[in-house]
Amino acid sequence: MAESKELPQFPESYWRKTDIESYPKLEEGIKVDVGIVGGGIVGITAAYLLAKQNVKVALIDAGEILNGTTGHTTAKITAQHGLIYDEFIKHFGEEKAKLYYEAQMNAKDFIEEIAKELSIDCEFEEQDAIIYTNSDDYITQLETEKKAYDTLGIESELTDTIPIKAHHKKALIMKKQAQYHPIKFLKVLAEEAVKHGAKFYENTTAIDVEYNKHPAIITRDGHRIICKNVFVASHFPFYDGQGFYPTRMYAERAYVLAIKSKKNYPGGMYITAEEPTRSLRSVKIDGEEAWLVIGENHKTGQGKSTIDHYKALQDFAEAQIGVEEILYRWSAQDLTTLDKLPYIGRISEEEDTVFVATGFRKWGMTNGIVAARVITDIIQGNDNPFSELFSPSRFQADPSLRKFARINADVAKHLIKGKLEFTDQTIKSLSKDDATVTRINGKRAGVYKDQEENFHCVDTTCTHMGCEVEWNSGERTWDCPCHGSRFSYTGEVMEGPAKRPLERIELE
Ligand code: FES
Repeated sequence: MAESKELPQFPESYWRKTDIESYPKLEEGIKVDVGIVGGGIVGITAAYLLAKQNVKVALIDAGEILNGTTGHTTAKITAQHGLIYDEFIKHFGEEKAKLYYEAQMNAKDFIEEIAKELSIDCEFEEQDAIIYTNSDDYITQLETEKKAYDTLGIESELTDTIPIKAHHKKALIMKKQAQYHPIKFLKVLAEEAVKHGAKFYENTTAIDVEYNKHPAIITRDGHRIICKNVFVASHFPFYDGQGFYPTRMYAERAYVLAIKSKKNYPGGMYITAEEPTRSLRSVKIDGEEAWLVIGENHKTGQGKSTIDHYKALQDFAEAQIGVEEILYRWSAQDLTTLDKLPYIGRISEEEDTVFVATGFRKWGMTNGIVAARVITDIIQGNDNPFSELFSPSRFQADPSLRKFARINADVAKHLIKGKLEFTDQTIKSLSKDDATVTRINGKRAGVYKDQEENFHCVDTTCTHMGCEVEWNSGERTWDCPCHGSRFSYTGEVMEGPAKRPLERIELE
């Protein structure tokens, strides 16, 4: 590859360069103990844990395994999830804030132990996690967070100097965190699960759960996976179970550049306290050190042209690190719950055989492991110290309700705004590799013109709950601002909660 400071034309996650076993499509009805939907960190870890205990497991994924958020993560294994511990102490109390920290650290230990036990070369290495600020407004917040760390017994240091040459005035270090290569780790867990009898199926989309004596996962092709327990590990739950998840979470995107720089990486994993978020870690690519530069979070389907987010990261990297070559670019989507704690447990109080894990707020490498362990413990009747903390049925009036109202007002705004606004670009004036929203036969339509000048036209009404999707130029997808569904330019579902593709419109 010629060295280039230009952004790569197409997004591609470096993690996904690793060879991963492929699995067949489900072509018949089957009966198992546990049916898992979703082949990311949660589903695969759960399949591994259950299969090892001789539980009969089937795991299905709508596409390829490890190609969702897990395949596009930054793979920091840390309990430092932004400035949250002071907030958690205030909202949930000291005991629960400490439990949250312990759950994350248990996940880190789990990854390290399993990597050792199975001799997985997943580049696991201990690193400090560092949150830093260059803003006077945040100095006090870092000091308050440090007090919260001390209250909870978190090994840490407040400092004025950090190894990296980013502008900063103060930093808070959480000691002994880690980073790794998530796909190298999880592909082995998937293989081990299969060795222990788990069945994996790809290109198999779950569309519903039905009940007879036992629950059954229904696939788009009409097959049934009859099971004693269903584990919804599909990122946004494909099945709601009256848990009202679309009103209890919002989706955000974040962007990643893998960069070659002349500067040596000084160690540590970094994140800014203030917006716009800038986050850094190192990675070895083809034996050479590279920098991952991450940030530019925004709600899915909202904000500026998505390619501009990559450019903003590129500018930051150029100024702070000096860019020799941009090796990869990719982005990921994450879900945040109303009180910032993930939802892990029974999908609703009414349905005790269907489980859900979602809302990891960008910190899925630890929360994903926590989720797999909590739910597999509940299914097997084992006690788990964290199950109550993450239960989706928890009720916390503050801050949930205030934010609930705001998020739903936002959804309503997008339902209406999307239907009224049209760009005046016509299809004819479209450049190659560009898209526009227009009206065709009276319908709001999204049109993408590909590199070969073929047009791809879809109805922009999201098939989930009817919001209007927006063009994502960075990934060439149609993204829904309401609950984060994403569709390819041909309309196929790439990310739920939508289950059906966008309707295609033929251009006459
Ligand atoms: Fe809910 Fe589009 S994702 S309306």
